[in-house]
Order: sequence, then C-alpha cells, then structure tokens
Amino acid sequence: MKGVVLAGGKGTRLRPLTFTGAKQLVPIANKPVIFYAIEDLVEAGITDIGVVVPADFPMARDQIMAALGDGSAFGARITYIPQDAPRGLAHAVSICRDFVGDEKFVVYLGDNFIREGIVPQVQAFREGGMNAMLLLYRVSNPEGLGIAVVQDGRVVELQEKPKVPKSDLAIVGIYLLDRHFFEVAEGLTPSARGELEITDALARLIERGYDVRPEIITGWWIDTGKHNDMITANRLVLETIESCIAGEIDAESQVDGRVVIDPGAQIVRSVVRGPAVIGRNTKIIESFIGPFTSVGANCLIEHSEIEHSIVMDDSTISNIPLRIEGSLIGRNVRVERSTLKPRAHKLLLGDYSQVGLAD
Ligand code: G1P
Repeated sequence: MKGVVLAGGKGTRLRPLTFTGAKQLVPIANKPVIFYAIEDLVEAGITDIGVVVPADFPMARDQIMAALGDGSAFGARITYIPQDAPRGLAHAVSICRDFVGDEKFVVYLGDNFIREGIVPQVQAFREGGMNAMLLLYRVSNPEGLGIAVVQDGRVVELQEKPKVPKSDLAIVGIYLLDRHFFEVAEGLTPSARGELEITDALARLIERGYDVRPEIITGWWIDTGKHNDMITANRLVLETIESCIAGEIDAESQVDGRVVIDPGAQIVRSVVRGPAVIGRNTKIIESFIGPFTSVGANCLIEHSEIEHSIVMDDSTISNIPLRIEGSLIGRNVRVERSTLKPRAHKLLLGDYSQVGLAD
C-alpha cells in the first residue's frame, strides 16, 4: 500500500502564522504536526509516501520539503507531488494517480491528528475486500465537517458541512482507498466553495455501489486548523510524554512532573511544572513554565509566567507581569515589557494577528 499526505492549503484559519509558513509545520509538543502523519503511516507499514505540496505557495512548499527531506529520517521514501493551486482535496488526490498506480492507498490530511495511529485499520483494509474505509469520530459540531450516515456496517450517505446534519459521525481526514477513487473523481464539479470535494468523490463511490466501510475511532481526533485546536492537540500529546532531561537545571530551580528539557537548554532560578517540553538552547530565567506548555528551540523566557501555550523557535518573552496562557506564539516573536513613557501598550502586529490584553 502507498501513502498520500496532503500538505497544501492556505491555512487561513491559522493566520498570521500561515503567512510565513505551512500550517502542517506548526509544532505540537515541539514536533511539526505533519511528522505525526508520516509516523502513523510508517508504523502501519506504509513507507512509500507521496506528499502533495502547494506549487503556488513556494515558501510553504520549500519548508515542507526541507522538513521531511527524502523521508529517510522516518524510515520512508517520500515523493513530492506539486499541486498548482488549492483546487480541493479530491483534486489533490487525483494528481497522485501515477504515483499510486493500482495499489490500495491511505490519504492522510497533513493537519489531522489522531491518538491511536492507524495500524489496525490499515491491516483490515489490506486484507479485506472493501473499496474504501472511512475513519469516523463522534462530534458535537457536525455542521463544520464532513458527515457520514452508517447503516448495517456500511457507509450509506455522506454530507459535506451540512446545515442539517443527518448524523454526528464526522469524517476524519484519513481515508483508506483503492483505485476506484480515481475513476469516480473524474468529472467532479467544484462545490460552492470552488473546490473538488473529497466527500463528493466518496459519495459517488457509494452511489456506484462500491463497498465503503465505516471505522469509528475512539481515541481523540483533532483537525489542527485553528489556534484552539493546536493548543488542545499540544495538551493531549504532552499528557503522553516521558521525562527526559538533557539540558541544565540550576540548584535554585524546580522541575516537577513529566518534563522534556532538550540539550543545551538552561533552567535558571525557575519553576517548570510538567507536562512541558523545552527546546534546544532555550533559556528559562526566573520564570514559571506551567503545565501543557511547549517552548521551541533558541527561545528566551525571563521574568515571565506561561502555561497551556505553544511558543515556537527563536522567540523572546521578557518581563511580562501577568501570566500568559492559551497562547500560540510564532517564530522570532518578541513579547516584552516596555519601560518607555508614556506608559502604554506598544504593538507591532502583522495582518490577522490576535492579541488579548488584560488589565
Ligand atoms: C475536510 C473535509 C471534511 C473532513 C475534514 C477533516 O474539510 O472536506 O469532510 O471532515 O477535512 O479534517 P476542510 O478541512 O477542508 O474544511
């Protein structure tokens, strides 16, 4: 079987981070979200992986290619397949036809994230005679997602972002498919949002009598497209980490719970309360790093308190009197207390930035 990871899209819901980078590279517990997709495929024995990258967003394309390389770091072989423009998920899969050939394959959306991996599903699909297997997850907000109606062990109907959902089973962005997908994707017409929808192609499989099976997953599933989802995914992954202290902790610091401190990191007169990860060469000085926080590499956090947050590489947080929480802070960001007069908030924010100031 082959793997197809979709890493296109503009990531509009994660602006401004996605003006300068791919949404699939935002880190969860200091690891880009797309790495988890590749690892899930490799764990299921799928090592020949095509990654669809956005040709019209060269910055994101290049970053993804640099991060994943030829795949050898994951025990995989990666082939990059450029998509000329964001024409929808069905289009992105269709352009992988030559790469996939006649094999069965797994499509994994590069911003989707599940707890349990896909080993049993891939095994059942490999051995079974079905044409497609859809992973489904019970949700309370089916309106914003693809929805499946299940009857007698089959998927019998699909809806994409329905106003009136016929079920609460959302379609997870991980699809196990065979070559018939390419046949039904031909001749699809764009949806109201101007895209060739994967859900429309799957609905055609059902209409034409192909065997489409449901697989309801029970661990958690997160589509990490939005800021809050990222913070939640970060929390859920940090809940599973094992302690590993490679950096330095001075005698006046206190580190509690499960904490990863990477080589070259320094904890000075600070408290780190896990679960938390502190990246390579980051300095934490006279600060509090609270639970469910990931701090990337080469950061400086001094005289500040932060919890339930993601801080990406090369950022500085300095002398902030009030605790920072539930925050997603990008790369090369500076959050500092200003001593200039008049005493006022001084902001330099890019387009689509969001700031929540407290008194
Ligand atoms: C896409 C699919 C939707 C699916 C979702 C999972 O939505 O169209 O059916 O439930 O991924 O992440 P999108 O994220 O493109 O809005």
